Amino acid sequence: MYRKYYGLIQKPFELAPVGGRVYLSESHREALATLRYGVIANKGFLLLTGGVGTGKTTVLNTLLGMVRDKIKVCVLNNPTLSKHEFFSYLSGSLGIPYKKNKGDFILDFASFLKNYEEEGGKVLLIIDEAQAFPINLLEEIRLLSNHAGEKNALSIFLIGQPELQEKLADPLLLPLRQRIGIRHHLEPLTEQDTAQYIVYRLNKAGAVNSALFDSGATNLIHKESRGNPRLINIICDHALISGFNQDLNHIDKTIIEDCIKEIKLAGEKRLQASDTNKSPQSNRKLFGKDSNISILTATILILFVLSVTGLILYEFVPEQWWQRIVELTSPILDTFK
Ligand SMILES: Nc1ncnc2c1ncn2[C@@H]1O[C@H](COP(=O)(O)OP(=O)(O)O)[C@@H](O)[C@H]1O
Ligand SMILES: [Mg+2]
Repeated sequence: MYRKYYGLIQKPFELAPVGGRVYLSESHREALATLRYGVIANKGFLLLTGGVGTGKTTVLNTLLGMVRDKIKVCVLNNPTLSKHEFFSYLSGSLGIPYKKNKGDFILDFASFLKNYEEEGGKVLLIIDEAQAFPINLLEEIRLLSNHAGEKNALSIFLIGQPELQEKLADPLLLPLRQRIGIRHHLEPLTEQDTAQYIVYRLNKAGAVNSALFDSGATNLIHKESRGNPRLINIICDHALISGFNQDLNHIDKTIIEDCIKEIKLAGEKRLQASDTNKSPQSNRKLFGKDSNISILTATILILFVLSVTGLILYEFVPEQWWQRIVELTSPILDTFK
């Protein structure tokens, strides 16, 4: 909606990098070089970690667009696959017929690797979001590497959030951990990078004025996003909409401040909405907790009222009244004997 207003060919802060191009900060550049080396030099297992939205998948996709060798790539990013589904998916990606039997698959996989390696090919198995994969699947993945041939033409990239490092510290994954030859941790953008990233994205989107965001704005964006590209995209896109709505063709710190407030507010509302939309079970739980408290309060109150009433009756009711009450109630009590 704001494209024409700012003279842009496309939206600059879309999720997919504009024109498939990535901004290479020092850490992104290193990550890309490391991945490339890993696959070219047949380095076996490689670990790439980084916070959510720092650009791991983006770097990976950039690599896949660059490699020219004869490489069969299989990307796995679904941690909920069963073992059977995992082998079936792997067979499909590599073009190996799956006979619904793990033993047969292993044999076919080994001979496929051997033949493909002899033809000068490589296989790259990528596990994205590896931190969410169950240990038994990660172990199956490690075992696959036992079938790599002499040239070690099977590369396995484990990509994930920083918790992946903790997961790999599990003693059950020691054999896998020991095989990881290369590691890189993707750092967030520096303050200077953030400013350059914004200009880069604007340029790639065809902006005439790439200094649309002033330094006050970019500094605040960096502070709020902590150099996270995904968050930078969200704030910048919001700022362009705000600027357009207010007829401002220059984004300053004040616009960013307002946007951040709105984004945070929207986030809180979403959180509240998800609280009210909680599953019946969690509602029951909340409800159950409250009602337990009210039942307890009511019981204490009733006991208190009964004791006070008893005391009053005992003190103030004349004795002959008591005798009369006993006379009246004794036939009833007798029926229970
Ligand atoms: N170096 C980069 N250049 C351009 N865009 C990037 C870069 N790094 C991240 N992004 C953008 O940030 C968002 C999050 O990136 P993504 O690769 O999905 O992060 P991760 O996989 O680490 O969670 C995406 O919209 C992506 O386009
Ligand atoms: Mg990702």
